[in-house]
Amino acid sequence: MALSAVGFAVASVPPYLSGDAADAPLPLNPDVALHYLSLAVHALPGGLALALGPLQFVGRLRARRPKLHRVVGRVYMISVVIASIAAAVNAAITISGFAVQVAFFILVAAWLYTVAMAYRCIRRGEARLHRIWMIRNYALTFAAVTLRVYLLLGLQLSPSLGFEAIYTSAVWASILGNVLVAEYIVVQRVPAR
Ligand code: HEM
Repeated sequence: MALSAVGFAVASVPPYLSGDAADAPLPLNPDVALHYLSLAVHALPGGLALALGPLQFVGRLRARRPKLHRVVGRVYMISVVIASIAAAVNAAITISGFAVQVAFFILVAAWLYTVAMAYRCIRRGEARLHRIWMIRNYALTFAAVTLRVYLLLGLQLSPSLGFEAIYTSAVWASILGNVLVAEYIVVQRVPAR
């Protein structure tokens, strides 16, 4: 999971570092001059959160370097907040269709809510609940990876369905699938005490 997260971040962010809108891999809204910029403001912190997240789940690192865990955790949370505000803008101006917009708005709300709950719990000293909310939050972050996996699979296996149908399904499936896996991990793997 960590490898695919870092791999996706390294592969997907560079087109947004050049400052050239022609490098954007997805079609931009011709009516919105700042579409490329808002994708860049989203993808950069999004990539950082994606790459940093797995570190936070390494128990040994948490136990041995608690200060590092705190610093990386703060960077992660700030990245999620910036990336989700920009994601809301991107969802509003995307030309990928209404069903995709609804999915992304739900994802933004859940991304912000889970990170806020994780922060609140740790401020109150509730480490177990903090862990549970971070599992949920990172599962949503990781939807950026599963979305692209489903998209590639769909395009390979059923190209006749067309890009729009495959992309829309991939967006919804990535959210639903990751939420289910997160809840499974919370119920089965997080000790009651
Ligand atoms: C989990 C919450 C996230 C939400 C709600 C979200 C939302 C969005 C939206 C609305 C778009 C525009 C899509 C379109 O126009 O069809 C987008 C594109 C993009 N997002 Fe996210 N995103 C999230 C997480 C991430 C993460 C963690 C990354 C990590 C790199 C990321 C990287 C990108 C990139 C690179 C694009 C541009 C499309 C591309 O080049 O493939 N996103 N995102």
